Amino acid sequence: MKDYTGRLVAITGAANGMGAELARRFAASGADVALFDIDGKNLDTLRAELEAAGTAVWARQGDVADSTQVEAFADEVFSQFGRVDVLFNNAGVISAGLVWEEPLEDWDWLMSVNLKGLVNGVRAFVPRMSAQDFESDVVNTDSIASFLPVENSPVYVASKYAAFGMSQVLDLQLQTQKSPVRSHAVCPAIVQTDLARCNEHRNQPGFDPANYPYLTSDDYKRRWAVVEGSLPYGMAVDEAVTRIIDGVEANRFAIFTHPQYNPQIALGVQSLLDGIHPGLVQR
Ligand SMILES: NC(=O)c1ccc[n+]([C@@H]2O[C@H](COP(=O)([O-])OP(=O)(O)OC[C@H]3O[C@@H](n4cnc5c(N)ncnc54)[C@H](O)[C@@H]3O)[C@@H](O)[C@H]2O)c1
Repeated sequence: MKDYTGRLVAITGAANGMGAELARRFAASGADVALFDIDGKNLDTLRAELEAAGTAVWARQGDVADSTQVEAFADEVFSQFGRVDVLFNNAGVISAGLVWEEPLEDWDWLMSVNLKGLVNGVRAFVPRMSAQDFESDVVNTDSIASFLPVENSPVYVASKYAAFGMSQVLDLQLQTQKSPVRSHAVCPAIVQTDLARCNEHRNQPGFDPANYPYLTSDDYKRRWAVVEGSLPYGMAVDEAVTRIIDGVEANRFAIFTHPQYNPQIALGVQSLLDGIHPGLVQR
């Protein structure tokens, strides 16, 4: 990993999982870090850990779905540190269910975090990063679900497809504007993170999942159990983060953490061209 002394790395979804590991890696490589997460408790714990090791840390609790809060975070970061070298737009959440049964609140929640959360980060940070007279990176976390749709999580798959599409166009526009900002789309498969705990921080006042009939059904419970049960069998967080950092440093656009799926992705594209219906993903 390069030396990031004097550089500033901003991370959303920094309190747990891949975001927290990214914060630890960049701090250990000399960077100052700015952290944003809805989980204030784990954010404070991480801030204390990094500060104890001598890193300059700015941490703000907030919701990436709220553009005002993300804009305020960006204002604080630029005024405290005067620069941003890498932005990881990493916060994300997942749900499960049948397309025709999942509550519309799931669509509101996942699209507002997984898609609009990225847009809020881009709007708040990228114009000021573009105005800097040095190269920097914006890294959107999407998912391999954009290429190998998983049957249990339609809203997640849709939100990550949309996020990947936005990331592609962002990259094209940065190129045509001759911006010094490089962009990247991270597409992990399963990683051993805290993603299945995301319901703890569902920010939807007035909506109680426990009182929504489908979310108490056996079908929902079976689908959610697959989501929850698969994460412990995923790639270790430190290995996934190594691959993400390698991809950013090599200036790759799409960064796939699990190359063993590449043949299935290629086959999937060919199947679409051949008019074949989607098949279940073989793990
Ligand atoms: N773990 C996997 O298997 C996997 C696979 C593909 C993609 N991803 C993506 O990787 C990214 C990181 O997730 P992770 O797996 O490390 O999970 P994680 O739950 O450990 O980390 C996600 C972080 O985002 C935060 N967060 C959630 N909603 C937020 C909001 N509204 N505002 C601010 N912060 C919020 C959470 O508190 C948490 O700290 C996500 O975008 C996820 O969709 C994960």
